[in-house]
Amino acid sequence: MKVSKAVFPVAGLGTRFLPATKAVPKEMLPVVDKPLIQYAVEEALYAGIKEIVFVTGSSKQAIEDHFDHFCELEQTLIARSKEALLKGIALLVPESGTFIYTRQNEPLGLGHAIWCARHIVGNEPFAVLLADDLMKSKKPVLGQMIEQFDKLQSSIVCVEEVDPMATASYGILDADPPKDRLTKVRGLVEKPKPEKAPSNLAIIGRYILTPEIFSILELKETGAGGEIQITDAMARLLAQQSIYGYRYEGQRFDCGTKVGFQMANLSYAFDRPDMRERLMPFLRQMLKVCAIEN
Ligand code: UTP
Repeated sequence: MKVSKAVFPVAGLGTRFLPATKAVPKEMLPVVDKPLIQYAVEEALYAGIKEIVFVTGSSKQAIEDHFDHFCELEQTLIARSKEALLKGIALLVPESGTFIYTRQNEPLGLGHAIWCARHIVGNEPFAVLLADDLMKSKKPVLGQMIEQFDKLQSSIVCVEEVDPMATASYGILDADPPKDRLTKVRGLVEKPKPEKAPSNLAIIGRYILTPEIFSILELKETGAGGEIQITDAMARLLAQQSIYGYRYEGQRFDCGTKVGFQMANLSYAFDRPDMRERLMPFLRQMLKVCAIEN
């Protein structure tokens, strides 16, 4: 079995970024000059994904528009001989029929959003990417995971070690520390308090799932926060199949939080020599002021 479809749940309300996300989807917030969703879509395409499924909600029109032609803009760029910009924009338009949109009519949770893609995914393994986890790596993180899937033919969750006091913000694995980046999962718990957490291995926004997950999600059982949680569904799946945790190679920016989002912007801006040159003196000055104030 090969992974050729990726699901992008983008129907969340993005309340942590209000008022910015009142009319603009969180996934359209830019890191430097590229929206979060584009980084994740490029990661999936580089990993060999052929079909992209967006599970959208209300006020997510901007995502569909981003991956489509904008004739007026294209004509203007042609008239002004802005070839490089034009090429960048043209690359965003996929071959017709390869980007598919479906709606989650109510934000009932991540598990529910994934279930909304069941008819499009069908009976095959698929990837799930949460665009607010921005992954910076030499080799696309999803590509690293697909390589593992090709060998294991089992569901895989991407993991990272987190501060043991922060487990209540994540789905947490009951598993040994990864060896050669892999660990076999004994259990999964959504948002456990630190004293109840079986480890500090947190699930982050990349999954490869087998299609059996859909019949579990169909039960629509609610968990933490009254939401239908993918972690709980995977805990049930474990009774039928093996699941692995994969410690990715690279760096994650949690762009679902304001601090993580600012860190991502700084990190990606520093990768651009022209921006780095201008940011450096500014940051040095800021650090000096902070040192004096403290
Ligand atoms: P988050 O937990 O970050 O929720 O969802 P959110 O609504 O996007 O943001 P906050 O917490 O209110 O600020 C993680 C991912 O799951 C998707 C979100 O779009 C995001 O990509 N999601 C979440 C859905 O698609 N539907 C849901 O019902 C919940």
